[in-house]
Amino acid sequence: MSQSTESPRRVLFLLSSGRAQGNAEQLARHAAKSLPANTQADWVRLDSLQGEPFLDLRHTPAGYSAPGPIASALAEHTLAADELVFVAPVYWYSLPASAKLYLDHWSWWMRRPELRFRERMAGKVLSLITAHSSEDEEGVEQPSILTLKLSADYLDMRWRGALVGHGNHPGDVMKDAPALAAAERFLVQPVR
Ligand SMILES: Cc1cc2nc3c(=O)[nH]c(=O)nc-3n(C[C@H](O)[C@H](O)[C@H](O)COP(=O)(O)O)c2cc1C
Repeated sequence: MSQSTESPRRVLFLLSSGRAQGNAEQLARHAAKSLPANTQADWVRLDSLQGEPFLDLRHTPAGYSAPGPIASALAEHTLAADELVFVAPVYWYSLPASAKLYLDHWSWWMRRPELRFRERMAGKVLSLITAHSSEDEEGVEQPSILTLKLSADYLDMRWRGALVGHGNHPGDVMKDAPALAAAERFLVQPVR
């Protein structure tokens, strides 16, 4: 019997809510259930980066040193993935601080030649799974979507799109039937 030697597709879920098992995470875990068997799904909490602040050293004589151990491990995790999924609720019409800090660290990693960050990010897929509690305001998720879509374009990544759920208390999103139905298709539909 022949065995498939195809390596699994690696999907990295980047958790950035200030609480565990919140609405964005529950929606993401629901979406992840539809991933095909040949998928390696990994989950990381971006608040692990909190101890490694970002400094803009681009125009200093020494430039960037090698990232610290936590950031290095996260950079390797990022570069090993085929797809990156930001799991990021709406905080003040935008991304939570830990997601933004992670993106800022990309500017550091891009400047460490041994990482070949730009070259290795190109072609990966980027997407957003988000949740918000707004009842009457339209488009509160749009700034996060635009931030990530433009970042994907900047790094020649492919943009899958965004999955948006509604809820305030943890678990509310599991009552958002349209979001749950969309979640079941989200990670398996082809990316343009
Ligand atoms: C710091 C903070 C800022 C928030 N800002 C917004 C906002 O601008 N618009 C909104 O609709 N909900 C806002 N919310 C509500 C959350 O988006 C909502 O409770 C969401 O379900 C949280 O997702 P989580 O359970 O995955 O953490 C905010 C919540 C927090 C804690």
